[in-house]
Amino acid sequence: MPEPKQQKHAEGSAYGRPEQHPDFELIEVGPGTPCGELMRRYWQPVAVSAAVTDRPQYVKILGEELIIFRDKKGRPGLLYPRCMHRGTTLFYGHVSEEGIACCYHGWLFDVEGHCLRQPCEPDGGRNLEVARQPWYPLEERYGIVFAYMGPPERKPILPRYDILEDLRPDEEMRADKGAFGATGDSSLEVAPYSWLHMNDNVMDPFHVQVLHSTFSTVQFVPQFALMPKVDFFATENGVCYSAKRKLDDGREYDRISSWIMPNIMCVPNPIDIDQVKANRVTWSLPVDDSHFTMVTASRMPKNAPPLGGVRFNGKLWGQMTEQEKQDTPGDFEAQFGQGPMGMHSEEHLASSDRGIIMQRRMLRAQIRVVAEGGDPIGVTLDPGQALVKLRSGNFYSGTSATA
Ligand code: FES
Ligand SMILES: [Fe+2]
Repeated sequence: MPEPKQQKHAEGSAYGRPEQHPDFELIEVGPGTPCGELMRRYWQPVAVSAAVTDRPQYVKILGEELIIFRDKKGRPGLLYPRCMHRGTTLFYGHVSEEGIACCYHGWLFDVEGHCLRQPCEPDGGRNLEVARQPWYPLEERYGIVFAYMGPPERKPILPRYDILEDLRPDEEMRADKGAFGATGDSSLEVAPYSWLHMNDNVMDPFHVQVLHSTFSTVQFVPQFALMPKVDFFATENGVCYSAKRKLDDGREYDRISSWIMPNIMCVPNPIDIDQVKANRVTWSLPVDDSHFTMVTASRMPKNAPPLGGVRFNGKLWGQMTEQEKQDTPGDFEAQFGQGPMGMHSEEHLASSDRGIIMQRRMLRAQIRVVAEGGDPIGVTLDPGQALVKLRSGNFYSGTSATA
């Protein structure tokens, strides 16, 4: 008589183990999926403003391939790529002051999809008002073009973030897009795995001690090699952690990181840990179910040199061999190693994963709110509520023994 499967599994053999699957509720981002509908209720950073020009480009976001361009009056536009006339792509369109003209028969669309001209039709088109190329609204802030891809009647106010406001005359805003752009190595435009890997990573202060500080090499600062004492706490719009370390000089160092619904992270400076307030906001942006990228807005001193790529053994990440990546893995290796989509059914979440558990619980609760017709947290139509306060930073208490 065959042994029950349970028994074999209990013995630890890999043989006969149950089939595993991702948590599709949180992974899938396409139109009509639970998380895709949640994501569509928030403004998402679709491009860096400076990269949006009168040359049409494809951009993929939330599983949708779209065309982005800037008309010659300076207005950005985000349109469904297949021309509403007979379906060729607007990628080959030409941009003018008024909008983008399709290459095939010249139908001209403005940035809101209005059809302004149909050159092959009598009088240049007699019923232009009934023609509309599908479009999404855009707004620009912090050097980023944000898109709202949700139901038009629920379009919220584009949020502001306190740490990015009121720049001093000696500061400037910098925006970048790239899977590892936030750490200065933009050699990867899109990473081949789900947005949720990076979203989980931000509420995981323990991997900072292991992966980044003791396992590989010191990838940030030596102080991170101390195992932190961590508190996770829910905020009005997300989850924060406080990771405390007793430094050799007697001070207590408290590193506070924030995650904001549904895919925003605010991490304090990991290299210059004397910089108190965090100065950057990053989106873990889903490209599709198994690809993501990051968009970051940072306030920087004017003339600060561009962030260099992260180096290990003197090499940029993109130059490392597989063996070198085995010797000194970083975030990419750990996350890529989780696969294109996490196999959530086989995870064993432990007490150190409390922040991730809180994030996922909040995402699920808000997915339900959206499915039931409500507005998810952090979404507002009131301009007076547009300012989001972020707690992230490197904070210290206690007296320095060496001061
Ligand atoms: S297919 Fe675009 S104008 Fe005809
Ligand atoms: Fe990390």
